[in-house]
Amino acid sequence: MIQIFRTIPEFRNFRKNLPREMKVGFVPTMGALHEGHASLVSSSAKENDITISSVFVNPTQFGPKEDLSKYPRMLEKDAEILEKNGATVLFAPSTAEIYPESPSQIGFTIQSLGDKLCGASRPGHFNGVVQVVSLLFHIVRPDNAYFGEKDFQQLMIIRQLVAEQHFEVNIHGCPIVRESDGLAMSSRNLYLSAEERSQAVVLSQILFYLKEHYHQFKDADAVKSFVSEQISKKSVMRLDYFEILSEKGLKDIAVWENTEKPHAFIAAFCGNTRLIDNIPLFS
Ligand code: PAJ
Repeated sequence: MIQIFRTIPEFRNFRKNLPREMKVGFVPTMGALHEGHASLVSSSAKENDITISSVFVNPTQFGPKEDLSKYPRMLEKDAEILEKNGATVLFAPSTAEIYPESPSQIGFTIQSLGDKLCGASRPGHFNGVVQVVSLLFHIVRPDNAYFGEKDFQQLMIIRQLVAEQHFEVNIHGCPIVRESDGLAMSSRNLYLSAEERSQAVVLSQILFYLKEHYHQFKDADAVKSFVSEQISKKSVMRLDYFEILSEKGLKDIAVWENTEKPHAFIAAFCGNTRLIDNIPLFS
């Protein structure tokens, strides 16, 4: 049976009794787990002696008008999924456990990686992510930690955090797991009505199309116009951003002569639900 710890002292007591030579893998999540999360857990289970996962809906990464209170919570089902995929421990602390004072942000500087894409659309979001991931790294002290490329910018920012703060952890990026029609799996897909779900697939369709055809467009602006047009054809969709950036450093790529590897990023509202996806445009 998977062991569940809800407090930091209980978890720490368990952690400090693990043999030093044991490799500890860690998969932080906000729960409502699906096959995307499960793939991270099974990668960790393969590569470590023990896999610890956390489920914590982190208030400091939600904006005031975002979905913190309605974010899906289903811990029992999550525990089953974790256990089935090889996790040994679930750390599921309360908000008061992680933020004993109150869940307020402390200032992190996330340099140039944090101010574009989701950083621009969700001010303070990555600050909250970096805050909670560093707290979790301090508590869990993993050797390896697993993050999905679904949140590509988050993965880049976590790598930067680890480099700057000298955390002794290897960060592993794992590929996006998709539904059979291509939609990137996300806990927020649970919010979608049947009509929204059927239109949401356009995001991945656009990205797959661009991967094959982006060279046929004059420049990134021409691609952007194409993407806005495709999205606006769908009645429930509204584009938040579409950008083509360098895979390394997330720098603007305007024309294809550039030697940087181009990567496309999209975010759109499907009804009230904000969905994101991304794809490397090179193979
Ligand atoms: P959450 O959205 O629950 O995602 C947890 C991890 O699962 C992240 O690394 C995310 O990139 C990965 N993931 C989500 N959907 C995926 C998919 N379809 N394929 C592959 N991986 C996928 O990301 C967070 O939580 C939080 O910001 C967190 C890092 C836990 C900090 O609070």
